[in-house]
Amino acid sequence: MNTLSPSVSDRMRLTADAVEARLAVLLTTTPGADEIARPERLVAAMRHAVLNGGKRFRPFLVTESTALFDGNRDAALTVAAALECLHCYSLVHDDLPSMDDDDLRRGQPTVHIAYDEATAILAGDSLLTLAFDILSDPEVQLDPARQIALVRALSRAAGIGGMAGGQALDLAAETDAPDEAGIRQLQAMKTGALIRFGCEAGAIIAGASEADRQVMRRFGQTIGLAFQLADDVLDITADAAVMGKATGKDAGRGKGTLVGLHGLDWARRTLCDLVDEAGTLLLPYGARGAVLAETARFVAERQS
Ligand code: IPE
Ligand code: IPE
Ligand code: MG
Ligand code: MG
Ligand code: MG
Repeated sequence: MNTLSPSVSDRMRLTADAVEARLAVLLTTTPGADEIARPERLVAAMRHAVLNGGKRFRPFLVTESTALFDGNRDAALTVAAALECLHCYSLVHDDLPSMDDDDLRRGQPTVHIAYDEATAILAGDSLLTLAFDILSDPEVQLDPARQIALVRALSRAAGIGGMAGGQALDLAAETDAPDEAGIRQLQAMKTGALIRFGCEAGAIIAGASEADRQVMRRFGQTIGLAFQLADDVLDITADAAVMGKATGKDAGRGKGTLVGLHGLDWARRTLCDLVDEAGTLLLPYGARGAVLAETARFVAERQS
């Protein structure tokens, strides 16, 4: 069961609404400075990919990790919007016929179904680029060194050694089954890296110490693993109608998952262990760490 306390679910809602409002303004057909024109159909496909009721979990990690270190909320929302664009791009490409070949996402036809495959590829490309456009905005209320650090950290999380690399390993695993270490690595990359960035981002925004930044990286790594483990459990146990995406697909496609290797009972026990581990990492922050500790529980107990 999802036992998120009302105060944490209210905070989640607030962040989701604030980020959604920013994204709605960013994703328009009005060209930005130095742009030539924004094709209407491409913008419509991008809006379809983004403004469609995602959980906005990664934005919440950014705002809450920033709050933990008393960082600037406005800057956090900017970074959160950038991270959500990048995440949405990863979903558009993940769903393509040449990747997971899915027709449903967030309860709607995927972008390549609602538009066409070329448009979906370009909408993904444009969302990836827009993420860095948002992150490098000179108006953002951040010291330039911190802004550069965020650009660098997101690049590393998203690229060859992060999400995109993990997706490559995920696809390779369909034909050449990896061992447990291989599965853990591909999951840490395809899913964990962006989640870890969301947690580390607050420490960077707030100019927290290197030690704090490392704690947040470990926290992000732990809940990142939990997030994909929960997704793989839900692929087996949940209804497509609740998830807003097809379920029951991973085994058939030969996806390398820890649930496939060890089974559902092991996965549920491991999720509990990961929540405890994540909570322990936050102990030095006392009561200030409570929201993120509860967020770790949300990851493991989520039903969609
Ligand atoms: C789905 O992410 C992709 C995975 C990494 C498992 P989410 O479960 O956060 O999807 P949305 O953003 O809420 O749609
Ligand atoms: C998603 O993994 C990883 C990324 C999108 C980067 P999945 O392929 O399991 O995600 P869903 O189940 O399609 O959301
Ligand atoms: Mg996939
Ligand atoms: Mg998929
Ligand atoms: Mg999945």
